[in-house]
Amino acid sequence: MTEQETVEALILAVGGRPDDVRAAVDRLGAGPVAEAVVAELRFRAAPPADLPEVNVQLDLVHGDRTLGFVVTLSGKGATADAGQDPDAPMWVSYELADLVRAVYGPSGGRAGHTRRVELRLGRDESGPPNPKAYLVKLEPVSRAVHALFGAVDPAEPDLGDLAVRYATDKWGGLHWFTPHYQRHFSELRDEPVRLLEIGIGGYEQPHLGGGSLRTWKRYFRRGLIYGLDIFDKSAHDEPRITTLRGDQSDPAYLREMAERYGPFDIIVDDGSHISGHVLVSLRTLLPYVRPGGYYVVEDLMFSYFQGFGGSPTDLNSPDTSVGFLKTLADGLHYEDRPGLDPAQARYFDRHIGAVHFYRGVAVIEKSANAEGSLPPWIPRSGMPPRPAQ
Ligand SMILES: C[S@@+](CC[C@H](N)C(=O)[O-])C[C@H]1O[C@@H](n2cnc3c(N)ncnc32)[C@H](O)[C@@H]1O
Repeated sequence: MTEQETVEALILAVGGRPDDVRAAVDRLGAGPVAEAVVAELRFRAAPPADLPEVNVQLDLVHGDRTLGFVVTLSGKGATADAGQDPDAPMWVSYELADLVRAVYGPSGGRAGHTRRVELRLGRDESGPPNPKAYLVKLEPVSRAVHALFGAVDPAEPDLGDLAVRYATDKWGGLHWFTPHYQRHFSELRDEPVRLLEIGIGGYEQPHLGGGSLRTWKRYFRRGLIYGLDIFDKSAHDEPRITTLRGDQSDPAYLREMAERYGPFDIIVDDGSHISGHVLVSLRTLLPYVRPGGYYVVEDLMFSYFQGFGGSPTDLNSPDTSVGFLKTLADGLHYEDRPGLDPAQARYFDRHIGAVHFYRGVAVIEKSANAEGSLPPWIPRSGMPPRPAQ
């Protein structure tokens, strides 16, 4: 079983009872499960920038096994190695299944029922007590443990803060999209969503980009994040992030990819921004968004740039991104349009429940659009004369 498959199995298992989670750990193996959970904690931990290196001994208990990890926290982030540091100033242990539930379950304060903490700082020191010096040494230990517990507990950071932390341009300077996304996506935050983003970033530089994938991964604590790019971006593969290489203007590739990894709860198009590409992706992939999910088209300003297949003057051309998206407003009302046979309605008309336009971005809600028309006695060609009083 791959690491991704282990993580996905854990995310699905936490929906069950505590015994189900223990059984899932038995089935998947305590070793791979512990590795996956520690990798997730490392990713989530956000130690303060001025923190010097502090080792925390993290012991994960499953039955009669204890799996030890030395977690090193510092201003550079968190690393972890299997093993034991006898000199670690702080020792923390969890029941492994409890930690799995805390990390991969919906948030709700279940974390840490089995947490044990032991402060070993200064345990072997001799000589006269020096409280002041002790407190100075304790301070970084407390901050390191705070960062580790913050990675376990369900306090959820703001999407804009995450965008800044992981360096995607979705908020700040160029774009200001994250408040719009929070408005729509917060209800899905605790769900095991599958999110696909077209455009990983960094173009032909394999190690650049990936900021938005990590932003989504941290925002959706139980999400599986897929990134598609025309360049090889496999350097960004990590637990819960899968990169795929392909062209967003190739419908055959998109279909094959979506059959394998979809359906998705959210698709975000932040790829080439060429209108033709945007529309091929939307036409091909909307069927692979689950009802109740979202399809987002970013950077709509390119719809007005000729170099990107747009037009500054032909504002209603259905060949430009915004021109086409405008037709969705009429599509919402296909059942009400006199003379239009509903059987002839487009897929878009029948499967979109709302379209939200913001500056630079459109958020499309996928849902059945079949509420029926107004009753036939309401005249379609002008109101009848009012009866005389
Ligand atoms: C603006 S960047 C994405 C930034 C990233 N989403 C973020 O927020 O950090 C656009 C990416 O789209 C990719 N791209 C360009 N044309 C593409 C195509 N036809 N199919 C797939 N990806 C494409 C580029 O290689 C580039 O990495």
